[in-house]
Amino acid sequence: MKGYYSDTERDLPAPSDARARRRAPVGRRLALLAGLGGAFYLALARVQLTPEDQRVQAYADGVAAHGFGPACKWRGGHRIPPHKAEKIYLNVPSNDSCAATSARYAAHAHPAGSGWDMVTAQTVKGDWEKALGLKASWYGEHVFDAGSAESQARVRDSHKATEPYVWIDTYYPVMNTPVFAGVTLFSDPPVHAKLREARVEGDSASELADEVRVFHGLSVSGDVTAQYIYAGYGRKDDFDLLQAKGLDFAGKIAVVKYGGNFRGLKVKAAQEAGAVGCIIFTDPGDDGEMTEWNGHKPYPEGPARVPSSVQRGSVQFLSQYPGDPTTPGRPAYKNATRDAGGNFPSIPSVPMSYEDVIPILNALKGRGMPAGDLGDAFNGGLTHWGVEYWTGPSDVQLRLVNEVNTRVMPVWNTMAFIPGHVTDEVVIMGNHRDAWVLGAADPSSGTTSQHELVRGLGALRARGWRPMRSILLASWDAEEYGLIGSTEWAEDFGDWLQANAVAYLNLDSSASGSNFRGAASPSLALLLRGAAEEVARPDGRSVWAARADGGTWGPASVHADADGDRAEGADADEETVDWTKNEGKGSGIRPLGSGSDYTAFLQRYGVAATDMSFKGGPADAVYHYHSVYDSPAWMRRFGDRAYARHAESARVLGLVLLRLADALILPLNTTQYARDLVYYAERVDALGADVDLRPLGEAIARLRAASEGLDRERGELERRLRRAMRGRWCWGWGCGREVRKILAAIRRVNRKLRDFEKGFLAPEGIRGREWYRHKGTAPGKWLGYGATTFPALTEAITIEKDLERAREEAAALTALISAMAMRLAM
Ligand SMILES: *[C@@H]1O[C@H](CO)[C@@H](O)[C@H](O)[C@H]1NC(C)=O
Ligand SMILES: *[C@@H]1O[C@H](CO)[C@@H](O)[C@H](O)[C@H]1NC(C)=O
Ligand SMILES: *[C@@H]1O[C@H](CO)[C@@H](O)[C@H](O)[C@H]1NC(C)=O
Repeated sequence: MKGYYSDTERDLPAPSDARARRRAPVGRRLALLAGLGGAFYLALARVQLTPEDQRVQAYADGVAAHGFGPACKWRGGHRIPPHKAEKIYLNVPSNDSCAATSARYAAHAHPAGSGWDMVTAQTVKGDWEKALGLKASWYGEHVFDAGSAESQARVRDSHKATEPYVWIDTYYPVMNTPVFAGVTLFSDPPVHAKLREARVEGDSASELADEVRVFHGLSVSGDVTAQYIYAGYGRKDDFDLLQAKGLDFAGKIAVVKYGGNFRGLKVKAAQEAGAVGCIIFTDPGDDGEMTEWNGHKPYPEGPARVPSSVQRGSVQFLSQYPGDPTTPGRPAYKNATRDAGGNFPSIPSVPMSYEDVIPILNALKGRGMPAGDLGDAFNGGLTHWGVEYWTGPSDVQLRLVNEVNTRVMPVWNTMAFIPGHVTDEVVIMGNHRDAWVLGAADPSSGTTSQHELVRGLGALRARGWRPMRSILLASWDAEEYGLIGSTEWAEDFGDWLQANAVAYLNLDSSASGSNFRGAASPSLALLLRGAAEEVARPDGRSVWAARADGGTWGPASVHADADGDRAEGADADEETVDWTKNEGKGSGIRPLGSGSDYTAFLQRYGVAATDMSFKGGPADAVYHYHSVYDSPAWMRRFGDRAYARHAESARVLGLVLLRLADALILPLNTTQYARDLVYYAERVDALGADVDLRPLGEAIARLRAASEGLDRERGELERRLRRAMRGRWCWGWGCGREVRKILAAIRRVNRKLRDFEKGFLAPEGIRGREWYRHKGTAPGKWLGYGATTFPALTEAITIEKDLERAREEAAALTALISAMAMRLAM
């Protein structure tokens, strides 16, 4: 089989050719007969196919091929009903294949824009071509500059495609690479921080630590010498509290620890408090049970943290806007017009290991206040090394030097399109590929699970399966710098996305611990949960049952980013709501904030999304997030020994994808959405602000009623279709007028479901960060990772403390939801 795209052949065959071609294997005579019969029928009925008719016809084709219900006798060749497709698929992902794939992708440091990153983009291209049964392309083939006619056609003409194809889009964002970082404490004698991850016996990957020196992506160059202050987790509230206690950050360096929120927002808070530099260190107090003081050895001998391990990472102001700093809202083409860039810091920052920070914290002893007086969150695990946490300011000076090379750099998204019968409904699945260093877990575990998914789809294709609706796969680049590859792509094709995408399924690290976590738009929550309940683990329990295998982070531990990725710091949302304990009321699936590639799809373009992973709990081995120790050796020894979770992730993800791609009626549940909205409103109500939320509650009730009406219509349409098709000979148009009528109605229902999430988009965006347009959920303004539900309304109360504004937001939200209810009922 060959892909339709090559550099010389750009015209895609029309769908009608395709149908004729698919018939060929059945037998020329039968095809001829059917063709003549069809022509005769069409002539007889004098039917002129309008574009809408053609779309209904595509549904009929899909129904015929998939064997909806008991009916449908004809359609030569391959009838693979959805349940059979799932069975075939589930048998594909395997431990061994995952182990081999992971070893290939995590073999080299492959940060975004690097040579190895380019190589992995090509490797994915080759792997997908092979898995999908396509002709292998040569190295530079099907690689395009974003914005070029070829790149645009791959997406905008995808509805004409009849065979899968794979390509690479190159975007040109502004990013940077480390040149030099140095921190010196001018004590007597002076202490120079190592800022270097140690080579360790037993993990040869540690020799690669210098390939990506410790630094913050999108940080700025600077050389500052100043006194310093310790500011706990460095959240906005922490700075506010310290300033209220009389500490003045002007001209000082802020020393803060990871956890509690997204790192870029720590630097933002420091900068806004007047600080001239920021150091963010890893505190082992957030490592859960696997610590040295609990008797565990550091990696590689044991599961505890390597003292020199450092968390690299972007300091982009994620909650402002993600993506290329210089092209907010538009794609970063090579020739793009660029702004100065408003989503990264103006003060230098560096990440630091706990080993390096000990003398810096020790020099604060007796200066300012004992930090513990400000709350437990200001203390940490270094007390076990004799550190007393004091606020300062220090009397000694600290010098912080950060030198980065900032420039336009190429990044490569590898993409694949698999055409379905229905070509204007597309399910998108994406995972990023770039890693800070080797990234065995982040993101190569996801890259591996995605690879298994594509192998599964390939196995189905080999049996003649074609999905009901189209599938688009993406291996995003530059996620680590701030969701750049996915954001630029979404900004490039926003209009197409809104007209075609039915859902976006995200994967990032799929296996960095043992707790299964799901997050989703409420309309997809039950689908995700259902899939996780069906996939079994080796011990016979389901993946869903593995939500707390690694223990649960205590509700009081803000830092414990119960989000699992302890280092990733916090879903501070967990402080107030434990979504997993909300099962009686909700789906047990969390809302989406930000921190991975679903952001642009959901928050800007209103495409319903899911995200899933196995993440670490307090009883799991310490996961060295964004460190050189996120390596294949760690994965084999502590992370996912048999690579079983890699494979299980692929199974859960595949079920969700297949159900979205193959179901006749989209499995999006608006009623569950309405139920969760009740809960969102209760959370606003719990803030106790003097805002009348009754109209909002009534709008949600109307939405729920309309949605229940739609659910009844869905059930009725399915019953009617079954009845109409029972015992019938079905070859598309020949299905008859009644079937066509029902399919047309189903198509209308699907459009309502596809468009539902877009109802939350406000064109003017969320005030102060207009790039974000979703008024149902957004990354918290000062959280970054964690979701804030009803963000504009909530933050008017909690952050702006502006009641007038809150009332306006409540009214605006009420209007949005009322309009959504009306559209559903139409
Ligand atoms: C950039 O190049 C594309 C073609 O690749 C062209 O359509 C577009 O107008 C150019 N934009 C600018 C700002 O020059
Ligand atoms: C995959 O690994 C798990 C965990 O070790 C094991 O129980 C299971 O049998 C393995 N599966 C296969 C097919 O080898
Ligand atoms: C949607 O979810 C609700 C539970 O919230 C359930 O009762 C209902 O049957 C679901 N509807 C569909 C169409 O699956």
